[in-house]
Amino acid sequence: MNKIVTIERHIFEQQKHYPGATGTFTSLLYDLALAAKLISRETNRAGLANILGATEGQNVYGERQQKLDMFADEIIFKMNDHTGRLCAMASEEHDDILTIPPHYDTGKYVLLYDPLDGSSNIDVNVSIGTIWAIFRKVTSGAQGTMEDMLQPGHQLAAAGYIIYGSSTMMVYSTGQGVHGFTLDTSVGEFLLSHPDIRIPNQHKYYSVNHSYEKYWYPGVRRYVKWLQGLYGEGGKPLGNRYIGSLVADFHRNLLQGGVYLYPGDTRDEKGYQGKLRLTFEAQALAFIARQAGGYASDGAGDILDIKPHNLHQRVPLFIGNRDLVLKAEEFIRDNDKEWLDLYLPFRNGEDPTPKMNQTKNGKKKKKRAVVN
Ligand code: AHG
Ligand code: MN
Ligand code: MN
Repeated sequence: MNKIVTIERHIFEQQKHYPGATGTFTSLLYDLALAAKLISRETNRAGLANILGATEGQNVYGERQQKLDMFADEIIFKMNDHTGRLCAMASEEHDDILTIPPHYDTGKYVLLYDPLDGSSNIDVNVSIGTIWAIFRKVTSGAQGTMEDMLQPGHQLAAAGYIIYGSSTMMVYSTGQGVHGFTLDTSVGEFLLSHPDIRIPNQHKYYSVNHSYEKYWYPGVRRYVKWLQGLYGEGGKPLGNRYIGSLVADFHRNLLQGGVYLYPGDTRDEKGYQGKLRLTFEAQALAFIARQAGGYASDGAGDILDIKPHNLHQRVPLFIGNRDLVLKAEEFIRDNDKEWLDLYLPFRNGEDPTPKMNQTKNGKKKKKRAVVN
């Protein structure tokens, strides 16, 4: 019989790699695993319980919030507000930092999370996820501040995701490789099922929402043609898979090889910034990709090097096999000067949005599709 490793045992054994570890971090990861079990239970019951459908509320991006989003958001907060391990949290569903209630102790970590990723897929029984990231506190004082939240991804202490799919899995890294656990619902334990995940060298899939092609910049369009074997050396086409839940798309490509992209585009005046969130989605997955031998870029450079300037900042994302992502950067460098001119100042902390909107006479520019 093989060794049975629960997530608790694995986290505990990992702790031995960190001399001087107090166990705080270990407990924090375990709290997240417990939150994952609760969200998983609600996700599985979603078709039965009366918690489906959109609520009245919209989140800070003007998107409809689903009820399960709110449940997941609250569970993660409640599992972590009283433990004395965190000094603040931030969720994709809230504008501001979530502070630790004053009657509880605070600790030395901050947690950022996307409680329910792929929420448009809830009602149609398609895989969804949760993404989380943990930084060490860098400021003094008991409460965490925005400075603690806005750290470049290479400073992450840990990151992970949970996928609620045909089974529920938790995949995480503390900088010692990437490990995946599958929830055995009969005993309620996450068991180690995917030790030391490495992204395979073969390129099996590319994942992109093709319906936005009319808005893509020429380099991105050529890159996708290249992935299809229609441009350049004319290689074998990769399979196309797009679920529309980042966690699920990323997870598949991590296990099978390939690339996921959500580029900056021209759909509106902020399209060049991409859609996904740097702090709540991209940093964590970039950290995991890197730990699994892959790479994540915004098209201009390493996602992990970007210092966020806003909690809800968006970012273009190219993530997967290192060589495929480097190829995307090459296409963009060679073709998309227009995008780079807009995007690089934003990447460096300026907000140049108004520039794109204005013509020389000060009139608003119309939306346009790039045709090449
Ligand atoms: P969320 O549900 O947390 O708002 O994230 C949705 C994201 C991501 O999961 C997915 O890959 C992407 O939005 C899909 O966007 P499109 O529908 O524009 O392709
Ligand atoms: Mn999301
Ligand atoms: Mn979400």
